[in-house]
Amino acid sequence: MNIIKVKNYEEMSQKAAEILLDKVRQSPKMNLGLATGGTPVGLYRELVQDHQQNGTSYTQVKTFNLDEYVGLSGDDPNSYRSYMNEKLFNHVDLPRESTFIPRGDTNNPGQECTDYEALLKNHGGVDLQILGIGSNGHIGFNEPGTSFQSETHVIELTASTREANARYFNSLDEVPTHAITMGIASIMRSKEILLLVSGESKREALAQLMEGEVNENFPASILKTHPCVTIIADEAALGKLAI
Ligand code: PGA
Repeated sequence: MNIIKVKNYEEMSQKAAEILLDKVRQSPKMNLGLATGGTPVGLYRELVQDHQQNGTSYTQVKTFNLDEYVGLSGDDPNSYRSYMNEKLFNHVDLPRESTFIPRGDTNNPGQECTDYEALLKNHGGVDLQILGIGSNGHIGFNEPGTSFQSETHVIELTASTREANARYFNSLDEVPTHAITMGIASIMRSKEILLLVSGESKREALAQLMEGEVNENFPASILKTHPCVTIIADEAALGKLAI
């Protein structure tokens, strides 16, 4: 894993945008894997700003999001579809039909998972996957204990993940209990991975990733076996970690 040390969240977002934009300019037909949560907000802000100032175009890009809450429709303000619309899709020239996110309001989540995995394969897979990390080491919504062989599946969210995400909802009770997530194997098929880590709350997870063993109890640890991972981490997340 290649690690890039940056000062703070702002610099992390700028560096991530630089790497992503280089790829999009080199390969305008690329498949981008996208993440939600607090971490990539700054990256999306940078992409929107670049689109407005420099006109980088996404008309031929396809995007595949990692996950979606089960039970929320795309119109729900807390769905990841709404998040992506608001943070990125509404502000760049990416055709809406080229943006893929699992459907959370399906009445057959199992089928949705099979369909989503097939969709990824039929499009030739993800070229560059943006990832955040949960404080428990989850990637996507693959919580500790998820098989490294897993493909897109339904997962029950852990109490700590629901609590971490409750800040976006009116109350903890409203946070969905389940999500559809790309599996660990699906994520690992991405040709290249960019992991963003910012803030003191991620310090322990980053230390565990850098110094711990590859183990299903810490999902992100599998990234050590991927041939092309870049981590962009800020000083608060790195702490005293020697890199
Ligand atoms: P965060 O979540 O970006 O909101 O910290 C990251 C994650 O849970 O993967």
